[in-house]
Amino acid sequence: MTKQYKNYVNGEWKLSENEIKIYAPASGEELGSVPAMTQAEVDDVYASAKAALPAWRALSYVERANYLHKAADILVRDAEKIGSVLSQEVAKGHKSAVSEVIRTAEIINYAAEEGLRMEGEVLEGGSFEAASKKKIAIVRREPVGLVLAISPFNYPVNLAGSKIAPALIAGNVVALKPPTQGSISGILLAQAFAEAGIPAGVFNTITGRGSVIGDYIVEHEAVNFINFTGSTPVGERIGKLAGMRPIMLELGGKDSAIVLEDADLDVAAKNIVAGAFGYSGQRCTAVKRVLVMDSVADALVEKVSQKVSALTIGNPEDDADITPLIDTKAADFVEGLINDAKEKGAQPLHEIKREGNLVCPLVFDKVTTDMRLAWEEPFGPVLPFIRVKSVEEAIKISNESEYGLQASVFTNNFPRAFAIAEQLEVGTVHINNKTQRGTDNFPFLGAKKSGAGVQGVKYSIEAMTSVKSVVFDIE
Ligand code: NAP
Ligand code: G3H
Repeated sequence: MTKQYKNYVNGEWKLSENEIKIYAPASGEELGSVPAMTQAEVDDVYASAKAALPAWRALSYVERANYLHKAADILVRDAEKIGSVLSQEVAKGHKSAVSEVIRTAEIINYAAEEGLRMEGEVLEGGSFEAASKKKIAIVRREPVGLVLAISPFNYPVNLAGSKIAPALIAGNVVALKPPTQGSISGILLAQAFAEAGIPAGVFNTITGRGSVIGDYIVEHEAVNFINFTGSTPVGERIGKLAGMRPIMLELGGKDSAIVLEDADLDVAAKNIVAGAFGYSGQRCTAVKRVLVMDSVADALVEKVSQKVSALTIGNPEDDADITPLIDTKAADFVEGLINDAKEKGAQPLHEIKREGNLVCPLVFDKVTTDMRLAWEEPFGPVLPFIRVKSVEEAIKISNESEYGLQASVFTNNFPRAFAIAEQLEVGTVHINNKTQRGTDNFPFLGAKKSGAGVQGVKYSIEAMTSVKSVVFDIE
């Protein structure tokens, strides 16, 4: 029998009556089981979190920071062990999985330090009417209360830690709902906080399928803030169920890499391949289409195609560049996009090949805007090239996407790059680099259907706190 992982609730490790077995996507090996929590058990999680809130928020920043630093140290100590499980559980290359754990420790430490810099402000009256001159406002931030953190399969530790740490340092209590495929990794993260001695009830986990308990955990009146990363349809549903409660949504993307005539094509090719095929394309910030000027298209396509041919294909433990996708449904979806592009006349530059959930990396040239691949997010290793005649056409196609996460512009003309960046309807534009979330103190956000709210340590703390003013007269 494999290990039965437990939820961390009110400082104790708990099983539920039913469990969900977790299998490795690459090998099919059973990795263990996690509890399928009932609604009554969710009620207990929320009640214990709420009970822990007054004492936790009463601590000073430095006291809360000490717990976070301890948890970060434990993650660094156990990075290899946690990374190995994570690598198997979501079929991520072993080195990347270990880096994910280390990056999470760094975010936790940074959040702890950022908490120490939390400052309120004092405002003087007198700007609107003479009589208000004697008024003073002391403006401070206070925790929102109970934060429900829901993380996706592709970063089960990091996109949990990046929500939990800013929430905790600000004085909130947290319930983490990890992705089902990624639950074990989420529980290992919780073990680090437990070992760090975080007070009972301050940080808890809820496992169970989103399709079964999702609505219940979101709608529950105990929850004060929902911090979600995942797909756009689920994010939209959460947005509706949240009602008037504040939310943070980090959703899908269709990031464009726009390549101009004067770009350094070697730099562009290197970044496009790394950006499109890292973790087999299963990143929200992956480069998901290339909009290249006609005059340099042949040369760029050749460079990118060569690099893609050199990618290694295999298993996570071998650190292959391309590993099996998270599940069969994901691989079927990518195959559907490939078939549509092929039928409509796009030119595949590599062999179209799939074995089980393993989809071999593929570049399509001459993709046109009537193809699904021009607009839909594959979340897999297939990259479309759309040839354009002008910068205006590239901007137009980029902005016609329902998504607005990020974009890249490759050019040696910086004023032009800035002018293009201003016109792109996205949260972040990278110049001469791949689209990416980091560094983690930078703001990270999506426009349109890519999200709501701003992540990034300082911004996450701001989002998960509310402003409280105390106003008085000085005479
Ligand atoms: P997903 O299917 O939306 O799942 C995300 C999380 O939501 C999981 O924990 C899932 O639990 C849970 N969930 C599912 N249904 C729910 C419901 N009705 N109520 C509450 N929670 C529910 O997304 P995914 O497949 O894990 O991730 C891939 C998608 O996420 C892609 O579209 C990608 O672009 C996006 N993503 C965006 C970002 C970003 O920062 N913008 C980062 C990473 C990923 P279960 O696993 O139990 O279903
Ligand atoms: O998948 C979404 C993540 O937020 C992307 O993070 O750009 O560091 O891979 P990343």
